[in-house]
Amino acid sequence: TDPARIRNFCIIAHIDHGKSTLADRMLQITGTVSDRDMRAQYLDNMDIERERGITIKSQAVRMHWALPDPDTGEVGDYALNMIDTPGHVDFSYEVSRSLAACEGAILLVDAAQGIEAQTLANLYLAMENDLEIIPVLNKIDLPAADPERVAREIADLIGGDPEDILKVSGKTGAGVEELLDRVVERIPAPVGDKDAPARAMIFDSVYDPYRGVVTYVRMVDGRLTPREKILMMSTRAEHEALEIGVSSPGPTPTKGLAVGEVGYLITGVKDVRQSKVGDTVTTKLKPADDALPGYTDPKPMVFSGLYPIDGSDYPVLREALDKLKLSDAALQYEPETSVALGFGFRCGFLGLLHLEIISERLRREFDLDLIATAPSVVYQVTREDGVEVTVTNPSEYPDGKIAAVREPMVRTAILAPKEYVGTIMELCQSRRGSLLGMEYLGERVELRYAMPLGEIVFDFFDHLKSRTQGYASLDYEPMGDQEAELVKVDILLQGDKVDAFSAIVHKDNAYHYGTMMTERLRKLIPRQQFEVPIQAAIGARVIARENIRAIRKDVLAKCYGGDISRKRKLLEKQKEGKKRMKMVGRVEVPQEAFIAALSGD
Ligand code: GTP
Repeated sequence: TDPARIRNFCIIAHIDHGKSTLADRMLQITGTVSDRDMRAQYLDNMDIERERGITIKSQAVRMHWALPDPDTGEVGDYALNMIDTPGHVDFSYEVSRSLAACEGAILLVDAAQGIEAQTLANLYLAMENDLEIIPVLNKIDLPAADPERVAREIADLIGGDPEDILKVSGKTGAGVEELLDRVVERIPAPVGDKDAPARAMIFDSVYDPYRGVVTYVRMVDGRLTPREKILMMSTRAEHEALEIGVSSPGPTPTKGLAVGEVGYLITGVKDVRQSKVGDTVTTKLKPADDALPGYTDPKPMVFSGLYPIDGSDYPVLREALDKLKLSDAALQYEPETSVALGFGFRCGFLGLLHLEIISERLRREFDLDLIATAPSVVYQVTREDGVEVTVTNPSEYPDGKIAAVREPMVRTAILAPKEYVGTIMELCQSRRGSLLGMEYLGERVELRYAMPLGEIVFDFFDHLKSRTQGYASLDYEPMGDQEAELVKVDILLQGDKVDAFSAIVHKDNAYHYGTMMTERLRKLIPRQQFEVPIQAAIGARVIARENIRAIRKDVLAKCYGGDISRKRKLLEKQKEGKKRMKMVGRVEVPQEAFIAALSGD
């Protein structure tokens, strides 16, 4: 295709503002998907995406749209490549790569809700990528829609005339044809050097059990053709392009991809790590000198231990993680053992949603019952002798004298109706946030805080939602490390450390954490033949203590005299019970107690 007849765009929106529904309508109106084949959320493949209504993986689809030239009146056929982007903060790296594959973006805003935190975050990303922005009001069919007010909000934000903002309904299809016209008119055609060595940016990489890894690329310069030897510039890995094509919406092989085109390539590799998002593809025969800018390795921000509740499921868990890893380059894991929980894996995630999605897929697709330890972030600990240790698990926290601890910070943006300012500020301050700035957008306010990521990963979002009746939205991005007064709190049963309960917390919260855990455990652990102290300690200093009093448990006491078989039965039963017990030193703890203490209810 002549680059002048190509438009590459994406839709950016806050979660639930109707991106997938609008994409569905566009596929239908352009005839890309027939009415008979249409089903809701056409582009979301994964069951879990469909059920939760969130888009995890971005994809690209080619549509055709005819529009007369304003000067000559001649009708031109345009190829519109729509690149679907994930909306959630955990996947912001993938969002930014998808944006880099486009020249323009539809900024979709729910006309009843107005601008939200991810609307802004994605808008800023799009502006950084120099995209042409087409603001659009969605859901105008809703009785609660207030298009005039929201149009003013948008115009205040990006300039322009509120009258000019298109009003559509992804549900009814109203206004969608005008929107497609505008995409052609406003979004610039791609430019590139067709004679230069090939350079294509990978903006998505998806594992397909039948075809192996399907790599989605945007051609910037040159051309890629099937059967060619290709080279991944960051890893220097070589592959053969077995198939090249475009999705419209099903995979359709083509003779190649040229400047400005968006499509897929299949090389037969089985692991997405060999075809990484952000990397540049070139050809082996005539390789490009420089890779396209912007490649970074996905870096896990949140760590948690995953343990099978039934220890015999460990091999199943390992296999399941191996499988998920094929389609998720950001997932990391390594084996770990815990006194309390047995054999499991330490897993690294991009954020909390990523963690939730992976645990849910393990449960659902592999039928695994799992217990997850409290999420932890990555700490840089400097010992007094100058040695630096990276700690992703509280149990790895070095013993002895510590010179300094650094924790990851994030720049947080919270958007909410202005009457909630007070309660939000209170919450952020209690989480060690420091205010960076505040801005009013009509009836809403945007609050920007620098906050420790460790304070957000626990239950910050839940608290924020409940304090604002669900009206606040949150977005965050990493802003480096900062030194903080952090300590490790250990929980000891009869003097033995229970690794799964160790936590790294701010020194002002140490006492609270210690008393909460010791109390919880006292209620959960049954009495033993001897007294069991439960202590919380920082190093050798005990900061909280509870006692479980001793009992004499004589199971045979109730059997009068002779009934041997009855006695035996009782003893058998007691043995059964013992199996699900874990020994911590001399203390028997039912596994349920660990699980209950960790899940916090
Ligand atoms: P994420 O993929 O999670 O970011 O969501 P999304 O932005 O793709 O939103 P989605 O299309 O799933 O729509 C969210 C909800 O809004 C769904 O319940 C839709 O049925 C509804 N919805 C979407 N567009 C419209 C519209 O134009 N009018 C009305 N009334 N409802 C809509």
